[in-house]
Amino acid sequence: MRKTIIAGNWKMNKTPDEATALINAIRPVASGANCEVVVCPTAVCLPAAKEALAGSNIKLGAQNVHFEKSGAFTGELSVDMLKAVGVEYVIIGHSERRQYFGETDETVNKRTKAALAGGLIPIVCVGELLWERECGITNEVVARQVKLALFGVSAEDAKKTVIAYEPVWAIGTGKTATADQADEVCGVIRATIASLYGAEVAEEVTIQYGGSMNAGNADELLRKENVDGGLIGGAALKAPDFGAIIAAAK
Ligand code: 13P
Repeated sequence: MRKTIIAGNWKMNKTPDEATALINAIRPVASGANCEVVVCPTAVCLPAAKEALAGSNIKLGAQNVHFEKSGAFTGELSVDMLKAVGVEYVIIGHSERRQYFGETDETVNKRTKAALAGGLIPIVCVGELLWERECGITNEVVARQVKLALFGVSAEDAKKTVIAYEPVWAIGTGKTATADQADEVCGVIRATIASLYGAEVAEEVTIQYGGSMNAGNADELLRKENVDGGLIGGAALKAPDFGAIIAAAK
């Protein structure tokens, strides 16, 4: 059975002290979770976050990883560096990185393979722009992103990979995909994985929805057959809201 995973992407928010305070507030609301809970603070907060998470059921994630082991890559972090501070998950190819920092399907693929080779669980983000949805090519866009992200990834590693469907027009806008829209595209992602690796592998892959998920809409979204969790931005910065989303996950 595939895992339900609720992950908070804190983006560029919180100092180390603030991260510790937020984790202390999240710990009790996550303690009875029926699902995997992950927090992804900024890189500078990872050591403080790891310390604050000690003895809890919450896992630590990072927001990006480089594909080389070391070298002249100013500003980047390697798999080994993240693992050394207790990171288990890493977000790859978030639309903000694709939009503002030159992330491409090719670099997403390289980062995904490096994360898997080094034992990190990648949370690979895919999703269409508003005009792509309006042009009626959402399914093609998302299927292409998934195929390119997983190019050269073995079936064993594909099973470990988490895919987050984040329609770009729903991120930070307050506009959420309807539960049916989210389910449909998450279903397309599962069918794409099945076309690459077979139905058995596809059934095991966790596919999250992300984009303005909050305490009010989480229940309906998470009830859908193909939605196996959430990647949450704004609402993950408020412990009660994040707690309500965790509670909605079965
Ligand atoms: P919001 O929940 O703030 O829309 O952000 C979603 C997101 O980008 C998570 O990665």
